[in-house]
Amino acid sequence: MEPIVIPVHTGRAYDIILGRGLLSEAGRLIREVHKGSRVLIVCDSNVAPLYADTVRDSLIKAKYQTVSVLTFPAGEQHKRLETVAHFYRALATAKFDRGDLVVALGGGVTGDMAGFAAATWMRGIDFVQIPTSLLAQVDSSIGGKTGVDIPEGKNLVGAFWQPIRVIADIDTLSTLPQEYVTDGMGEVVKTACIRDKELFALLERDQAFSPALLTEIVRRCMLVKCRVVENDERESGERKLLNFGHTLGHALEQHLNYTGISHGCAVAVGMAAVTAASERHGLTAPGTAARLCALLSKFGLPTVGPVPVSAYLEGVKSDKKCIGGQVDLVLLSDIGEAVCRRIPTDTLEEFILR
Ligand SMILES: NC(=O)c1ccc[n+]([C@@H]2O[C@H](COP(=O)([O-])OP(=O)(O)OC[C@H]3O[C@@H](n4cnc5c(N)ncnc54)[C@H](O)[C@@H]3O)[C@@H](O)[C@H]2O)c1
Ligand SMILES: [Zn+2]
Repeated sequence: MEPIVIPVHTGRAYDIILGRGLLSEAGRLIREVHKGSRVLIVCDSNVAPLYADTVRDSLIKAKYQTVSVLTFPAGEQHKRLETVAHFYRALATAKFDRGDLVVALGGGVTGDMAGFAAATWMRGIDFVQIPTSLLAQVDSSIGGKTGVDIPEGKNLVGAFWQPIRVIADIDTLSTLPQEYVTDGMGEVVKTACIRDKELFALLERDQAFSPALLTEIVRRCMLVKCRVVENDERESGERKLLNFGHTLGHALEQHLNYTGISHGCAVAVGMAAVTAASERHGLTAPGTAARLCALLSKFGLPTVGPVPVSAYLEGVKSDKKCIGGQVDLVLLSDIGEAVCRRIPTDTLEEFILR
């Protein structure tokens, strides 16, 4: 099957290449868009033993002269400045200049950090994303957000930096641990909810996902994210729709100190809670919350959290997206149609709980 090419029309335009068996084609696919001679592949300790050699060999085959692999310990707790400083030292040692390339091979943690290093090394060098987790393929590798966490909060330090190419190989998902597949499905369901009712129906209909079907699911999610990001590269309006389920989800994650629940599961709980509330208020087509909850359950995602919403609603008010006593809540008017509604924070409790 020929790979699918999705052009992304951001300030600096680039293509997403989606398909199977693409890791061994990475060198050729990167050669088409990058002429330099040195490449640093950034990889975490889980992904490196699985895929780094294949990517490195294909880059060497494509006549890149120096190709090194830099590995960091896997896990969100390593998405921090100290790890990026380690990347900078590798770039300095290898004498990387503006004509060289960083490749992020891995999940969202790798993409965010390698992207941030590329954005800031010599004020910006070329960067390619090879996302290997479902979440990275459908969400984090697209849109140009890069960054790290600091003790004061997640993703507080970062930059917008677009890759020159995204290469998503569906085959890599076969080694992704089930908990991360489930986690990624949270974002897939979110995407279907906000913009793609056909994807929602497809997810409802099919029991097992063949690689072809998985490709179609990832393709549809990519298209939604691309279109939203193209219309709003710097997150002033439309991009907010991607936050469906996230306002409550983030508050729940924070309430549990980012240990009790995964991001995808927290978002699932957030989507279910906000949709139940908006349906009660007559803002959402009747039956939507039930359909959403059934789909979430099908993928093993929770629809209620380990603590009640009332326990963490207060946390919403301290969210960075909460400005001037108001919070933008993303609601569904129907499956596939999201709207953003500005709600004064002092009526939030009333809105969500009653
Ligand atoms: N930049 C953005 O727009 C954006 C959007 C959403 C999330 N994010 C960020 O993405 C991160 C979460 O991404 P994630 O869930 O991919 O986390 P991750 O990168 O930690 O990957 C999850 C786990 O799966 C492993 N893994 C990845 N691919 C694998 C594969 N093919 N086979 C086996 N193991 C594999 C990783 O080693 C890790 O243990 C968070 O830091 C979040 O802030 C960024
Ligand atoms: Zn998310």
